Amino acid sequence: DPSSVNPTDLAGRKVVVSAGGTREYLDPVRFLGNRSSGLQGYALARAAASRGAHVTLVSANVSLPDPAGVSVVRVETTAQLREAVVTATATADAVVMAAAPADFRPTAVSDAKIKKSDDGSAPAIELEQNPDILAEISHDRSRAGAVIVGFAAETGDASGSVLDLGRAKLARKGCDLLVVNDVSGGAVFGSEDNEAVVLGADGASVEVPHGSKTALAHVIWDEVVRRFAD
Ligand code: CTP
Ligand code: CA
Repeated sequence: DPSSVNPTDLAGRKVVVSAGGTREYLDPVRFLGNRSSGLQGYALARAAASRGAHVTLVSANVSLPDPAGVSVVRVETTAQLREAVVTATATADAVVMAAAPADFRPTAVSDAKIKKSDDGSAPAIELEQNPDILAEISHDRSRAGAVIVGFAAETGDASGSVLDLGRAKLARKGCDLLVVNDVSGGAVFGSEDNEAVVLGADGASVEVPHGSKTALAHVIWDEVVRRFAD
């Protein structure tokens, strides 16, 4: 267990972890959502707490018990996730965006439940893009010194391999580290295990072999600690 090797290297540090998947409501009972279970984010929060950090866990629609010794902030939508993360980031030493924010939200949310019509027709749903929280906090100069980590679940395609896409996303987001998962098989969702490459804006590339989400969490915190300025 790596936590017994380095039990206090996050002592006195304030870290923020987001976890889960956001929901974008169409009406009071329906939403657009995604398959994120929150397991990796919760593993990151537990690992950080075990290494002595003060942890704020911003949790979106996760059905997991609150980790001991962690402050949990519950959110549903990407707008709420953004608000909670931006607020907590102001005083944080590190931020890990393990959540899967919905990229789009319905342009309008109906106050009343949307009803079927008798003619068999279906409504069209118009979407608009949500704000990019990771890019926003990475480009915000006022977060001076905080180490910012993003995640990317990619399937390689004609435009590039999983790692090419990861490198490009790291540059676009402006974060310090990007944890890249190959999800071509769809296997990581809800799984206890993970396998990833941690890319650094400094050119670093750390391959994490198939293992528990807790083991990956500890590698991520190792890389964060390495990048603290003081
Ligand atoms: N992210 C975010 N805000 C969003 C969307 C994503 O902060 N509105 C964060 C995620 O938490 C993750 C990282 O950005 O840490 C990458 O998410 P991903 O969905 O891979 O990136 P996108 O920019 O949404 O690109 P794509 O079109 O590939 O989904
Ligand atoms: Ca996305």
